[in-house]
Amino acid sequence: MGLVNLTSILILVIATGGGLVGYFFLRDGELPTLPDENWGLVSSQELLDGSIRNFAINISEQVLQDLKARLILEVKTFDERVEPSMAGTGFHYGINSKFLKNVLDHWLHKYDWRKREKVINKWPGFKTRISGLDIYFRHIKPTKETTPKKKVLPLLLLHGWPGSFVEHQKIIEFLVEGKNSDFRFELIIPSYPGFPFSEGSKKPGMGATDVSLILLKLMKRLGHEQFYVQGGDWGSIIGSNMATLFHENVLGLHMTMCHTFHPRSLFKFIVAHIFPTWLMDEDEVAQHSPLFYKWPIINMVRETGYMHLHATKPDTLGVALSNSPGGHAAYFLERYSWWTNQTWIDLEDGGINSAFDLDELLDNIMVYWVGKSITTSMRMYRETSNLLTSHYFAVERVAVKVPVSCINLAGEPYTQPKFSLVEKFPRLRYTKWKTGGHFNPLQIPDVVAKDVIEAINFMHKTYT
Ligand SMILES: *[C@@H]1O[C@H](CO)[C@@H](O)[C@H](O)[C@H]1NC(C)=O
Ligand SMILES: *[C@@H]1O[C@H](CO)[C@@H](O)[C@H](O)[C@H]1NC(C)=O
Repeated sequence: MGLVNLTSILILVIATGGGLVGYFFLRDGELPTLPDENWGLVSSQELLDGSIRNFAINISEQVLQDLKARLILEVKTFDERVEPSMAGTGFHYGINSKFLKNVLDHWLHKYDWRKREKVINKWPGFKTRISGLDIYFRHIKPTKETTPKKKVLPLLLLHGWPGSFVEHQKIIEFLVEGKNSDFRFELIIPSYPGFPFSEGSKKPGMGATDVSLILLKLMKRLGHEQFYVQGGDWGSIIGSNMATLFHENVLGLHMTMCHTFHPRSLFKFIVAHIFPTWLMDEDEVAQHSPLFYKWPIINMVRETGYMHLHATKPDTLGVALSNSPGGHAAYFLERYSWWTNQTWIDLEDGGINSAFDLDELLDNIMVYWVGKSITTSMRMYRETSNLLTSHYFAVERVAVKVPVSCINLAGEPYTQPKFSLVEKFPRLRYTKWKTGGHFNPLQIPDVVAKDVIEAINFMHKTYT
């Protein structure tokens, strides 16, 4: 056999093999059937209870006094117990001790929970039992009359980790009356099971996809068969799951963490790392830090240790975080820095003072502390990434039928370029913003709210 023949046979074999492998690994999957579980292990009588109760946040004096006693001790013994950060290391070794000491001092002496509680309770909260678990949510309807009358669209706002329903505090006002919008919005802001004021699952296995089903039930209980969804971090993940699974209910999705594990999207993203300048523009090359530029692998390994811990042994870490307010705050504050701007790791305060209001960050840290939510919230990673029980990766394999809008914020580390996202989200509207990061509703509420309003106006007029 001549060399030419051999070569053509080889090419044929490789092409056919590659085609088959590509077909099986890159094609869309089938939607899984979700089990309808009783996560709270409640009686069948309780399972049927669909009542909705008012729930204003009112933390007992006892819990506040316990926290105060711990803070007094930790502030007093800080220099004795906590090893100081080395000079000039900023946030490179984790939280900076000097910065943390200032935060704890502020928390103990200046932060006033009762005052903050009033601010948080400005928006009405409720509880209702779904799939056996007591779920906390906020529900805000527009009140002002407009002429001409504007249609009200239901919008489910989803938080992330270590975020909570309080991270939406500042965008509520922008959204509810719908400034520069043909619509106004009825906002439903839930706390996921195991997150502040919502009961955690009593048995293993509840991942992001199961949470999606609970949220669908919540929306239906409130009378909304069809609605929009918005979120970042887990809010983007759960929102994307909802848009894939419940495409008859979700009218459209807005995401700030534009990311997917759809195999074709991942394949394209990997190819983009090998040929960055062919497949991405200059901004994208800089933002997505392709493999051979800026050592992203090192950054990613350095910055995702938390994820590995949560996905394996969340309960051990949970004990430490549940016993020390200083440790608890340190764990949250570390995330606020790198997830907002990757250059702030050099700064002593991690850039946090310039981007956020400390009281607002403490509100979020407080609701986790008083809600005893840290361990149960970290379990979300464990359950979602469990390949044996989680439906998440199966759902990710299926393209989303409904329109999706994504805002690419320059400081968001977990994002993919547009050309890879379109495999999962074929009807993608895509916008870019030069600043802003992972905790955008707290950092740039006006920008996010404006993009959400424009996106939903566009999606509603184009597709419904
Ligand atoms: C909070 O609860 C206490 C009793 O535990 C009660 O005296 C107080 O009025 C409540 N505050 C609010 C704002 O409801
Ligand atoms: C990050 O911070 C640096 C220095 O403060 C600033 O020049 C840059 O624009 C910031 N990047 C983002 C994405 O906000």
